[in-house]
Amino acid sequence: MKIFVSAFFLVLALGFLQPAGAQSVIVESARFCKGDNPAWQKADFDDSAWQVLALDKDWFQQGVRNANAYGWYRLHVVIPSSLKGGVTGDILLDMGPIDDTDETWLNGHLVGKTGRNPKEEGGFEGKWDTPRRYVVSPEWVRWDEENVIAVRVYNGGEPGGFYAQPVNITRPELKDYAGITLERKGNECVATLSSRIKTGGTVEAQLRDVLTDELLSSKTWKVRPTGKKDLSFPQSFREGVRVVFSYRDDKFDDFLEANICAPYILTPPAPATPRYNGPLVFGVRPGSPVIFRLAFSGEKPMTYKAEGLPEGVVLDSGKGVLSGSVKEEGDYPIVFTATNAKGSTSASFTLKVGARIALTPPMGWNSWNCWGTSVSQEKVMASAVALINRGLADYGYSYMNIDDAWEADERAADGTILTNEKFPDMKALADWLHGNGLRLGIYSSPGSHTCGGYLGSLGHEEQDAKTWNEWGIDYLKYDWCGYNKVFAASSDRSTAAYMRPYVKMQQFLREQPRDIFYSLCQYGMNHVWEWGAFVDANSWRTTGDINDTWASLYDIGFVRQAGLHPYAGPGHWNDPDMLVVGKVGWSDKLWDSRLTPDEQYTHISLWSLLAANMLIGCPLDQIDDFTFNLLCNNEVNAVNQDILGHQAHQDVVEDNVQIWSRDLYDGGKAVGIFNLGEAVMPTLLRGALEKIGIEADTVRDLWRQKDIPTDSVYQIPSHGVLYVKVK
Ligand code: GLA
Repeated sequence: MKIFVSAFFLVLALGFLQPAGAQSVIVESARFCKGDNPAWQKADFDDSAWQVLALDKDWFQQGVRNANAYGWYRLHVVIPSSLKGGVTGDILLDMGPIDDTDETWLNGHLVGKTGRNPKEEGGFEGKWDTPRRYVVSPEWVRWDEENVIAVRVYNGGEPGGFYAQPVNITRPELKDYAGITLERKGNECVATLSSRIKTGGTVEAQLRDVLTDELLSSKTWKVRPTGKKDLSFPQSFREGVRVVFSYRDDKFDDFLEANICAPYILTPPAPATPRYNGPLVFGVRPGSPVIFRLAFSGEKPMTYKAEGLPEGVVLDSGKGVLSGSVKEEGDYPIVFTATNAKGSTSASFTLKVGARIALTPPMGWNSWNCWGTSVSQEKVMASAVALINRGLADYGYSYMNIDDAWEADERAADGTILTNEKFPDMKALADWLHGNGLRLGIYSSPGSHTCGGYLGSLGHEEQDAKTWNEWGIDYLKYDWCGYNKVFAASSDRSTAAYMRPYVKMQQFLREQPRDIFYSLCQYGMNHVWEWGAFVDANSWRTTGDINDTWASLYDIGFVRQAGLHPYAGPGHWNDPDMLVVGKVGWSDKLWDSRLTPDEQYTHISLWSLLAANMLIGCPLDQIDDFTFNLLCNNEVNAVNQDILGHQAHQDVVEDNVQIWSRDLYDGGKAVGIFNLGEAVMPTLLRGALEKIGIEADTVRDLWRQKDIPTDSVYQIPSHGVLYVKVK
């Protein structure tokens, strides 16, 4: 049984609201005050003059503007003695994520801390997406009386504070004390079971077929897991199987589960004959250089033809690269034909010469998620060469974007921005890319410095835009970060104040005689999606930085993109951040993405549905077959590049299931059925489609590229997806 406490009848009624036997108490709101004062952690501090805030909405949503600053919550709650007597006697404060850091006291005792505040050693580290679950010793609780939970929050940028859920005070679960982590060691799967309490139980390892879920073999161990214990399951790490480790505890009536599987490829091999995989339209402004590479898979060598090219545009028939420029606005229908030893294929395409660019979401590569600040011209070039040689360019990937850390420490005497020693010749890099029909992107900040501490464009906006044009830059990611200082110095928190630095740079970008895709990066502050298009931006990041964990993918993908579909469309896209598949590391030390293969299918399916920027974040010269096939499924990518440009909406949200769908220009609909739970989910496809009003006998399975009947039950793996197109 649960009871709810709302601040509106806080102290008054609290004492009378405890039905005997309550197993959890839910606190929906709390007293709040901006600022910082150690006295506020004490239980007896009088906060009656503080304002009341809901805990499932952030500061920004409740009219509180408090960026780069502290604020305190104080929750008043009677904790019923019926919560006593759990397995360990402790209680749990289940508080959800907090933007960005917190320290939490119960009746004056520090019970938890997450993230790092600016003046601490190592500097600010936000943990806005980490759920806070603090286990509290019973001796600090005032049973059946009012308790005070004081929470000091630091917010490094909007929106700030508690935001995702009410606070739940309950008994801890097994997962609050113990955990299983799985690791691959050669062809063995090793589970590490660790626990902070004395208990014991049974571990079972199961080997299951990844697609049918059939049990292939199993093994069990009796364990006393205090401390750490390694359990290995030999011969288990091979394609097509999933290893599931579960631990059932003797004391807790509860179990832990973790699973791992070797990568498995669903995308069928591309035919040897030419197949067009590129976008059906491309927008260019009158007079701007046309830089476009025909994206045909199939056996090489290949020769290319284009019928209907407008005056001023030529085709390199050996490379399949369009160049030149068009003076007159208009739609120019073109037919591309590619021929190889196995055959010939034609595709219809439209070059749209007009004010609007980025008619479909950008596809390409960005250096950040792999190389971080260790990026160099050599590394960019290695990925660019691989983009062509490994065939990713045959699927429409065309932007090669350098993120932070290309900038020299100082500008030239006349103020010109310079590259550092890792980038000996930016123009040569751009020329090489353009000659191959690819494009070059760069990164800067409207502040004096970037997030990585490099020089930003503040005060040099016009000069930088000109320099980038001279180099041949085609994409700018403009990252707020260092602009915080300018922002903090003024009290203006209007939308215009958020737009100001972005409008300024766009004015200078538009003065250049080339098209520069304009990517805003300010983590979604002040609902950037509502005004990004007015800044004439081509995309805007909607959240903080992604990382290669399920928690991050879940929060960014399944929580924070909900409701954003009205704001995306041809020319301007919501950007849920770059891809975390393949090798990542944000430094020169890389590792394989920690997302499971199923989570990676979910990641790419969701980004395809969301019409998101498809910027690969791994070194392409090291790409493995699994990752290549994940990124180069032409039917999955066709949804992302659909010319209607309708972003998917979240149609169904149930405990462990979400269904997202989007309309396509050919009258079809793409539907992703996601299993967000920890166990395989058998799903009658017909039933799932009926939930969103679709009746169909067969649909197209986009990953496997085959028609499948809807009256069958499909096994959707944990954190996995069934991604279909309804005709
Ligand atoms: C911010 C951005 C990242 C990356 C880094 C570079 O964190 O959100 O995507 O550009 O800065 O310093």
